[in-house]
Amino acid sequence: MDKVKIYTINNKLLPLVIEPKNRSMLLEDLLLLIRQNNDYFRQILSKQGGLLLRNFPIHDIDAFSAIIEALKLGNFLDYIGGDSPREKVKGGVYTSTEAPPSIKIPLHNELSFVKNYPKHIYFYCAIPPEKAGETIIADARSVLTTMKKEVKDRFVKEGIKYVSCYYGKSIVMDLLNKYQRSHKPWKDVFETEDRKEVESKCKETDFAYKWHNDWIQISQTRPATLIHPETGEEVWFNQAHLYDFNPKLLGLWRYLAAKAFYFRPHTRLHEVAFANNTPIPRKDLYTVMETLDTNTIYFPWQKNDVMILDNILSMHGRAPFTGKRRVYAAMTG
Ligand SMILES: [Fe+2]
Repeated sequence: MDKVKIYTINNKLLPLVIEPKNRSMLLEDLLLLIRQNNDYFRQILSKQGGLLLRNFPIHDIDAFSAIIEALKLGNFLDYIGGDSPREKVKGGVYTSTEAPPSIKIPLHNELSFVKNYPKHIYFYCAIPPEKAGETIIADARSVLTTMKKEVKDRFVKEGIKYVSCYYGKSIVMDLLNKYQRSHKPWKDVFETEDRKEVESKCKETDFAYKWHNDWIQISQTRPATLIHPETGEEVWFNQAHLYDFNPKLLGLWRYLAAKAFYFRPHTRLHEVAFANNTPIPRKDLYTVMETLDTNTIYFPWQKNDVMILDNILSMHGRAPFTGKRRVYAAMTG
């Protein structure tokens, strides 16, 4: 590790930055350094929650994939069951969310509503955003410790039930998505057009499912917090705040449009409740969003940055942006 310098770029120490001392360092040198120091990288991630590789010659997705493989933190995972619009690019690499640039993606742990959630998530910045568009990050341990006690206790006691509906073939939905990508068809959510395969993937991940003609409704119950399997630390680990359509999340006009459009229960993109089907008080969800805001770290991208997050210890999201932005993502479990 004497070929690199290690430093922090904010007072919350997330992410820890690793940079070459000599800018002529080759990709092969970086891969060798990672392979020879797997334990060191693993330890940093379980302690700091995230690290950033900056100013290394990481010029394309192949280099990004090679770094993930060299880290040996797990096998690539597909984005099965995920609701965010994104494209699979190559192997286990996806575009980060294709949600409209004006929308803020609030902090979350990736796929925290899925039993087989990813243990690590990786980002590669090919084109930094022209204006704003930071990837926002936060320490999920401090989100838990700063959460209002009565909200935390209620969430932990009750558990969270997530319900999602996805369409099959629909000209109206296709048109809507062309205008503003927001609602994925089930063939994209499950990466197959075969209903039987969808059903077996649901069974694998403990999703209950129900078909309504060409729509599928899936639901699952998950805890609100999680104990990190290696460090034993408890973290906030749920996406209830993303599954409740409310004016604070969507803005007033989008909220009203969504309410008008999703008038039928089996076409609503998301709904959330406590596990016993009682509603989660909206003021609790607003408290969660405020706590996330106070824990937010704005992380500005530089071209060819690679950020690796322990997906249990660290949350991520996206600030709104204008102009071009291209960030790729991959996950391992
Ligand atoms: Fe995400």
